Amino acid sequence: MSVSSKTQDLKQRMKLALQGGGSKAIEKQKSTGKLTARERILELLDEDSFHEYDLFIQHAGKDFDMDKKFLPGDGVVTGTGTINGYPVCIYAQDFTVAGGSLGYMHAKKICKIMDHAMMLKTPIIGINDSGGARIQEGVNALAGYGDIFYRNTMASGVIPQISVILGPCAGGAVYSPALTDFVFVVDKISKMFITGPDVIRTVLGEEISQEDLGGAKVHAEISGNAHFFAETEYECFEQIKELFTYIPWNNTKKAEAFDSIKPRSRDYKIKDIFPTDSSKPYDIRHIIRSITDGSDFLEVQERYAPNIVIGFARMDGNTVGFVANQPIAMAGVLDCNASDKAARFIRFCDSFNIPLVTLEDLPGYLPGIDQEHAGVIRHGAKILYAYSEATVPKITIIMRKAYGGGYIAMCSSHLKADFVFAWPTAEIAVMGPEGAANIVFKQEILHSDNPEKTRTAKIDEYRQKFANPYVAASYGYIDSVIEPNETRAYICHALDVSKNKVSKNPEKKHGIPPF
Ligand code: HXC
Repeated sequence: MSVSSKTQDLKQRMKLALQGGGSKAIEKQKSTGKLTARERILELLDEDSFHEYDLFIQHAGKDFDMDKKFLPGDGVVTGTGTINGYPVCIYAQDFTVAGGSLGYMHAKKICKIMDHAMMLKTPIIGINDSGGARIQEGVNALAGYGDIFYRNTMASGVIPQISVILGPCAGGAVYSPALTDFVFVVDKISKMFITGPDVIRTVLGEEISQEDLGGAKVHAEISGNAHFFAETEYECFEQIKELFTYIPWNNTKKAEAFDSIKPRSRDYKIKDIFPTDSSKPYDIRHIIRSITDGSDFLEVQERYAPNIVIGFARMDGNTVGFVANQPIAMAGVLDCNASDKAARFIRFCDSFNIPLVTLEDLPGYLPGIDQEHAGVIRHGAKILYAYSEATVPKITIIMRKAYGGGYIAMCSSHLKADFVFAWPTAEIAVMGPEGAANIVFKQEILHSDNPEKTRTAKIDEYRQKFANPYVAASYGYIDSVIEPNETRAYICHALDVSKNKVSKNPEKKHGIPPF
């Protein structure tokens, strides 16, 4: 055979492999509003950057007549490319080929590209669109999942891992995304559940649709399994590209530095956002935007546990992770979900050399039977653990309420914040003046001629004495009391002088966080 006929043969083989599940299956895929696996990759990566590997991999199924079936690429497309000019490894399950189901070779292909990502120290992106374990391949399919979960765990904290759910992701398959750093979902397209509606109907007699059980909104708003929610696949890819402007390529690097841009101070002025009445709520995201470069802020898990806000921004051109109480949602209180949300984010930032900026205004941990029984002790401890072990620069601004456990938990100097600044409006105490006066002066109030008047006087007395930043400042628990409009300057300076921070935790195999 001549070179040209061999080349012709290669082209023929490639054509066959690239057709995926064929025109009928592709048509079905498109009719549900979904792109194909290769279209998704091309849409997400920089133009002309994608190189595909293992196109000729074939499945290893022998039973149920599988040996007679040709499954192009074994239902998954893998390769390398770039996003914003930086290298990534990527795989996308091809639902048009046997429903993107995961068999032995399909899993091997995914594991191979994951191993490449670890060797090359690049992020790994997995686009999930699959009916789950390939039923005909039995235990080999389960083995494949196990191999992927192991690699997800080993890669955790070494390279960023992104999961994009663009179709079904059922059964144990959900645990790969759950082990990764950021999960992206698209409305009406993403479906994630361990057991689907049919099993639920059979076992529990309950009726529920796929959408209501594990649709994009469910995971973005209720379960907290998703970090980014988009209306369309295209919007989802834009979100991923934006995220990659904020995070580094691996744990030995820092995120790319950009030119410093001033905040859009006409749109976001602290004095217009922050209420003079200390009992009034305000949107903390506006305060964040009032101090960040260009007033940009990429919020993570925007729809879940809204009482805490987390996300990425740049200060003086460098990425920082913001963790902030949100007074417009449950007064910014810390509960089980908020603690989980913040703790995970703090650990991501710490793993990937992203300094943490904490904005504090909260009445404390949420009291109540529901919370106690849901394990607010264990969940609440996660945020303490995450802040304490984090060795990246940590800067805290106490704006208003910093009561009780909330004061300690929100990156206080006791958890080794590098700099703690307080606004003059800060109220740092064991609890709010009302609660404190009722306890401390209970007898006095009870036996007074005018209990209401005495209560008001005692609340005022307590507020004057403790609900300010100066007692904490007198013990050195805060570094400076600053004017609100100096916040950006103080944070930027603190970040600048913390650039060469070296901090090491005690030698150990690993800690035991309150998972
Ligand atoms: C083999 C599968 C498959 C699977 C789908 N297909 N899922 N083949 N194993 N798990 C095939 C179908 O037979 C069909 O092949 C093609 O993919 C398209 O599937 P359809 O059913 O026609 O598509 P649709 O109507 O869109 O329904 C999609 C679906 C459904 C909801 C995902 O296919 C489904 O329920 N699949 C099974 C889901 C499941 O129970 N998976 C196992 C989970 S347990 P043809 O040849 O007809 O085109 C699990 C354990 C992992 O994953 C544990 C790890 C620890």
